[in-house]
Amino acid sequence: MQLTLNSPLDMHLHLRDGEMLKSVAPLSAHSFAAAIVMPNLVPPVTTIEAVNAYKARILEAIGEERFEPLMTLFFKESYDFAYLEKAKPYISAIKLYPAGITTNSEGGVGTIDSAALQMTLTAMSDLGIPLLIHGESNGFVMDREKEFIPVYEELATQFPELTIVMEHITTKESVAALERHENLYATITLHHLLITLDEVAGGMLQPHLFCKPIAKRPEDREALLSVALAAHPKVMFGSDSAPHPQHAKEACGCAAGVFTAPIALPALAQLFESHGKLDNLQPFVSDNAQIIYGYTPPEKTVVLEKKPFRVPQKYGDVVPMYAGEELAWRIASVR
Ligand code: DOR
Ligand code: ZN
Repeated sequence: MQLTLNSPLDMHLHLRDGEMLKSVAPLSAHSFAAAIVMPNLVPPVTTIEAVNAYKARILEAIGEERFEPLMTLFFKESYDFAYLEKAKPYISAIKLYPAGITTNSEGGVGTIDSAALQMTLTAMSDLGIPLLIHGESNGFVMDREKEFIPVYEELATQFPELTIVMEHITTKESVAALERHENLYATITLHHLLITLDEVAGGMLQPHLFCKPIAKRPEDREALLSVALAAHPKVMFGSDSAPHPQHAKEACGCAAGVFTAPIALPALAQLFESHGKLDNLQPFVSDNAQIIYGYTPPEKTVVLEKKPFRVPQKYGDVVPMYAGEELAWRIASVR
């Protein structure tokens, strides 16, 4: 059995910098046509110059692969219309982090309300620049995403023309919020379709499955699966593949992030096939995002085949999800 995917897209990806960039970027560039690249470097990517320099480093790291890095700025309340008008040709979106909520987000936004962010959000809305949000409060870890939903709703109501993407949603409440506002969209990761908190902490603690937002309850995973498997037009695949060196994961004080970039397409094929929904993988991993972002990716044909794929124990110094295990699908060819 085979499945052909046209120009798969990863709409939420961490490529890092330096040696880590060199080791992980080619893995995404091999099987995806393009990806939205997150700006949470140290220091964060907050200027047009930094965006362009980072893009050049990514292109150098991927060599000959046909892959378009779609760049993002790290949200600042001080971006005004004139600056964003200059930035627009170089970026696909702006990513907003609540301060301190996850890896390298210390310089994020303290108070998120539409009045405080008025100038920047009005400019983004007028210029048609999507707003991507890591939507978590500072509350109890299992409630953080749910508690953030009123913020999404206020922003969606105050800026009805602004495209807002709820990044890496993990709860049934976020799935429900999609239906209430025309301008709210979402990315969904591979790992949140596969695991709940049980897989992370129900037995021996699994540091390689620890991420932000933390995986939630079975009913939450069911809600995510229902919209992903149906390729609901408001959801798109965003891996949130977030590599950390092995010593930073297998440590007292484990870094948050699941590394899935090189296994994402085979694992998605396995998941969609097991639910009899293989036909919906194309819209979930590409078509929906093209429509939501108004984006035409480079042409890339990825053929997957149902043959066993033994996931490597490590890619460089990073341990992937399913390390050492066998997946039922593998990448047969990329053209
Ligand atoms: O688990 C995560 N890791 N969640 C994020 O939001 C950031 C990411 C990272 O950059 O490591
Ligand atoms: Zn992320």
